[in-house]
Amino acid sequence: MSITIRLACPEDAPDMAEIISRSWEAAYQKIIPMDLIQAKNATRLDLFRRIITAENDSQYVITSNGTTVGIMGVAPPDKSEKDIDDSFYELQSLYLHPAFFHRGIGTAAMNFALEKGRAAGRSRMILWVFAENTGAIRFYEACGFAPDGAEKIYNCGKDLRSIRMQRKI
Ligand SMILES: CC(C)(COP(=O)(O)OP(=O)(O)OC[C@H]1O[C@@H](n2cnc3c(N)ncnc32)[C@H](O)[C@@H]1OP(=O)(O)O)[C@@H](O)C(=O)NCCC(=O)NCCS
Repeated sequence: MSITIRLACPEDAPDMAEIISRSWEAAYQKIIPMDLIQAKNATRLDLFRRIITAENDSQYVITSNGTTVGIMGVAPPDKSEKDIDDSFYELQSLYLHPAFFHRGIGTAAMNFALEKGRAAGRSRMILWVFAENTGAIRFYEACGFAPDGAEKIYNCGKDLRSIRMQRKI
Protein backbone atom coordinates (compact mmCIF):
# COMPACT_ATOMS: atom_id res chain seq x y z
CA MET A 1 0.00 0.00 0.00
CA SER A 2 1.48 3.34 -0.99
CA ILE A 3 1.64 5.93 1.78
CA THR A 4 2.98 9.44 2.27
CA ILE A 5 4.29 10.75 5.58
CA ARG A 6 4.42 14.51 6.06
CA LEU A 7 4.51 17.06 8.86
CA ALA A 8 1.03 17.84 10.15
CA CYS A 9 -0.36 21.33 9.58
CA PRO A 10 -3.15 23.09 11.53
CA GLU A 11 -5.79 21.92 9.01
CA ASP A 12 -5.00 18.30 9.93
CA ALA A 13 -6.27 18.65 13.52
CA PRO A 14 -9.76 17.14 12.89
CA ASP A 15 -8.32 14.12 11.03
CA MET A 16 -5.72 13.60 13.75
CA ALA A 17 -8.37 13.68 16.48
CA GLU A 18 -10.45 11.17 14.51
CA ILE A 19 -7.53 8.78 13.97
CA ILE A 20 -6.35 8.72 17.57
CA SER A 21 -9.91 8.34 18.88
CA ARG A 22 -10.71 5.34 16.64
CA SER A 23 -7.29 3.84 17.29
CA TRP A 24 -7.70 4.09 21.10
CA GLU A 25 -11.17 2.54 20.91
CA ALA A 26 -9.79 -0.42 18.96
CA ALA A 27 -6.45 -0.91 20.71
CA TYR A 28 -7.41 -0.15 24.30
CA GLN A 29 -10.93 -1.57 24.59
CA LYS A 30 -9.72 -4.32 26.90
CA ILE A 31 -7.27 -2.10 28.77
CA ILE A 32 -9.13 1.15 29.49
CA PRO A 33 -12.86 1.46 30.36
CA MET A 34 -14.75 2.83 27.33
CA ASP A 35 -16.11 5.83 29.29
CA LEU A 36 -12.53 6.94 30.03
CA ILE A 37 -11.58 6.46 26.36
CA GLN A 38 -14.58 8.57 25.32
CA ALA A 39 -13.69 11.29 27.86
CA LYS A 40 -10.18 11.40 26.41
CA ASN A 41 -11.54 11.42 22.84
CA ALA A 42 -13.61 14.50 23.69
CA THR A 43 -10.40 16.44 24.42
CA ARG A 44 -8.50 15.46 21.25
CA LEU A 45 -9.62 18.11 18.79
CA ASP A 46 -8.79 21.00 21.16
CA LEU A 47 -5.45 19.39 21.93
CA PHE A 48 -4.43 19.01 18.29
CA ARG A 49 -5.68 22.52 17.48
CA ARG A 50 -3.36 23.76 20.23
CA ILE A 51 -0.25 21.72 19.43
CA ILE A 52 -0.31 21.62 15.62
CA THR A 53 0.84 25.13 14.85
CA ALA A 54 2.55 26.31 11.68
CA GLU A 55 5.87 25.70 13.51
CA ASN A 56 5.14 21.99 14.14
CA ASP A 57 8.29 19.97 13.51
CA SER A 58 7.54 16.68 15.28
CA GLN A 59 3.98 15.53 14.57
CA TYR A 60 3.31 13.70 11.29
CA VAL A 61 0.31 12.48 9.36
CA ILE A 62 0.41 9.28 7.35
CA THR A 63 -1.80 9.45 4.26
CA SER A 64 -2.85 7.07 1.53
CA ASN A 65 -4.52 8.35 -1.64
CA GLY A 66 -5.19 11.64 0.15
CA THR A 67 -6.86 9.98 3.16
CA THR A 68 -5.27 10.30 6.60
CA VAL A 69 -4.68 6.78 7.87
CA GLY A 70 -2.37 7.38 10.83
CA ILE A 71 -0.45 9.84 12.97
CA MET A 72 3.01 9.74 14.45
CA GLY A 73 5.15 11.87 16.74
CA VAL A 74 8.96 11.74 16.53
CA ALA A 75 11.28 14.09 18.44
CA PRO A 76 14.25 14.35 20.77
CA PRO A 77 13.18 12.91 24.12
CA ASP A 78 12.42 14.83 27.27
CA LYS A 79 15.64 14.60 29.23
CA SER A 80 13.99 14.52 32.65
CA GLU A 81 14.91 10.84 32.83
CA LYS A 82 18.48 10.70 34.01
CA ASP A 83 19.58 7.82 31.76
CA ILE A 84 18.48 9.69 28.61
CA ASP A 85 20.97 11.95 26.85
CA ASP A 86 21.53 13.53 23.43
CA SER A 87 22.23 10.15 21.82
CA PHE A 88 18.50 9.26 21.98
CA TYR A 89 15.51 9.99 19.77
CA GLU A 90 11.93 9.13 20.72
CA LEU A 91 8.94 7.71 18.93
CA GLN A 92 6.35 9.67 20.94
CA SER A 93 3.28 8.12 19.35
CA LEU A 94 2.13 5.95 16.45
CA TYR A 95 -1.58 5.43 15.89
CA LEU A 96 -3.24 4.07 12.77
CA HIS A 97 -6.93 4.01 11.95
CA PRO A 98 -8.05 0.42 12.69
CA ALA A 99 -9.13 -0.09 9.06
CA PHE A 100 -5.42 0.16 8.21
CA PHE A 101 -3.89 -2.14 10.83
CA HIS A 102 -1.72 -5.07 9.67
CA ARG A 103 -0.89 -3.79 6.19
CA GLY A 104 2.73 -2.85 6.79
CA ILE A 105 2.00 0.86 7.33
CA GLY A 106 3.30 0.77 10.91
CA THR A 107 6.57 -0.75 9.69
CA ALA A 108 6.92 1.92 6.98
CA ALA A 109 6.20 4.65 9.55
CA MET A 110 8.76 3.15 11.92
CA ASN A 111 11.41 3.14 9.18
CA PHE A 112 10.65 6.82 8.57
CA ALA A 113 11.03 7.55 12.32
CA LEU A 114 14.33 5.65 12.53
CA GLU A 115 15.63 7.62 9.55
CA LYS A 116 14.65 10.91 11.27
CA GLY A 117 16.63 9.83 14.31
CA ARG A 118 19.69 8.95 12.23
CA ALA A 119 19.44 12.24 10.30
CA ALA A 120 19.44 14.04 13.66
CA GLY A 121 22.69 12.24 14.52
CA ARG A 122 21.12 10.02 17.22
CA SER A 123 22.18 6.43 17.86
CA ARG A 124 19.27 4.99 19.87
CA MET A 125 15.46 5.24 19.73
CA ILE A 126 13.14 4.89 22.72
CA LEU A 127 9.37 4.61 23.03
CA TRP A 128 6.81 3.99 25.78
CA VAL A 129 3.99 1.49 25.48
CA PHE A 130 1.30 0.25 27.88
CA ALA A 131 2.44 -3.07 29.36
CA GLU A 132 -0.98 -4.53 28.51
CA ASN A 133 -0.79 -3.42 24.85
CA THR A 134 0.65 -6.76 23.83
CA GLY A 135 -0.16 -6.35 20.12
CA ALA A 136 1.89 -3.12 19.93
CA ILE A 137 4.69 -4.70 21.98
CA ARG A 138 4.86 -7.57 19.44
CA PHE A 139 4.96 -4.97 16.66
CA TYR A 140 7.80 -3.06 18.33
CA GLU A 141 9.69 -6.32 18.91
CA ALA A 142 9.26 -7.11 15.21
CA CYS A 143 10.80 -3.65 14.56
CA GLY A 144 13.85 -4.56 16.67
CA PHE A 145 12.92 -2.96 20.02
CA ALA A 146 13.30 -4.61 23.40
CA PRO A 147 12.17 -3.53 26.91
CA ASP A 148 15.01 -1.69 28.68
CA GLY A 149 13.69 -2.06 32.22
CA ALA A 150 12.30 1.48 32.70
CA GLU A 151 8.66 1.73 33.75
CA LYS A 152 6.23 4.46 34.73
CA ILE A 153 2.58 4.84 35.61
CA TYR A 154 0.36 6.80 33.24
CA ASN A 155 -2.95 7.93 34.66
CA CYS A 156 -5.90 8.40 32.31
CA GLY A 157 -8.51 8.00 35.04
CA LYS A 158 -6.99 4.59 35.67
CA ASP A 159 -3.37 3.81 36.52
CA LEU A 160 -1.67 2.06 33.61
CA ARG A 161 1.83 0.64 33.71
CA SER A 162 3.97 1.72 30.76
CA ILE A 163 7.24 0.13 29.78
CA ARG A 164 10.06 1.73 27.83
CA MET A 165 11.55 -0.07 24.84
CA GLN A 166 14.62 0.87 22.85
CA ARG A 167 16.86 -0.15 19.97
CA LYS A 168 20.04 0.98 18.27
CA ILE A 169 19.45 2.99 15.09
C1 LIG B 1 0.81 -0.99 16.47
C2 LIG B 1 0.59 -0.47 15.04
C3 LIG B 1 1.22 0.91 14.88
C4 LIG B 1 1.30 -1.48 14.09
O1 LIG B 1 1.15 -1.05 12.76
P1 LIG B 1 0.67 -2.06 11.63
O2 LIG B 1 0.71 -1.37 10.33
O3 LIG B 1 -0.64 -2.63 12.06
O4 LIG B 1 1.80 -3.18 11.72
P2 LIG B 1 2.53 -3.94 10.49
O5 LIG B 1 1.51 -4.40 9.52
O6 LIG B 1 3.62 -3.07 9.96
O7 LIG B 1 3.13 -5.20 11.27
C5 LIG B 1 4.48 -5.57 11.27
C6 LIG B 1 4.70 -6.76 12.18
O8 LIG B 1 4.44 -6.38 13.54
C7 LIG B 1 3.80 -7.47 14.22
N1 LIG B 1 2.47 -7.02 14.66
C8 LIG B 1 1.80 -5.92 14.24
N2 LIG B 1 0.62 -5.79 14.90
C9 LIG B 1 0.55 -6.86 15.75
C10 LIG B 1 -0.42 -7.31 16.69
N3 LIG B 1 -1.55 -6.62 16.93
N4 LIG B 1 -0.17 -8.43 17.39
C11 LIG B 1 0.98 -9.14 17.20
N5 LIG B 1 1.94 -8.76 16.30
C12 LIG B 1 1.72 -7.64 15.59
C13 LIG B 1 3.73 -8.64 13.24
O9 LIG B 1 4.93 -9.38 13.43
C14 LIG B 1 3.76 -7.92 11.91
O10 LIG B 1 4.32 -8.71 10.90
P3 LIG B 1 3.34 -9.64 9.98
O11 LIG B 1 2.30 -8.72 9.41
O12 LIG B 1 4.29 -10.18 8.97
O13 LIG B 1 2.76 -10.64 10.92
C15 LIG B 1 -0.91 -0.38 14.65
O14 LIG B 1 -1.46 -1.68 14.67
C16 LIG B 1 -1.72 0.51 15.56
O15 LIG B 1 -1.87 1.69 15.27
N6 LIG B 1 -2.26 -0.05 16.64
C17 LIG B 1 -3.15 0.67 17.57
C18 LIG B 1 -2.49 1.80 18.28
C19 LIG B 1 -1.33 1.37 19.12
O16 LIG B 1 -1.39 0.46 19.94
N7 LIG B 1 -0.23 2.15 18.94
C20 LIG B 1 0.97 1.99 19.73
C21 LIG B 1 0.85 2.87 20.92
S1 LIG B 1 2.32 2.78 21.92
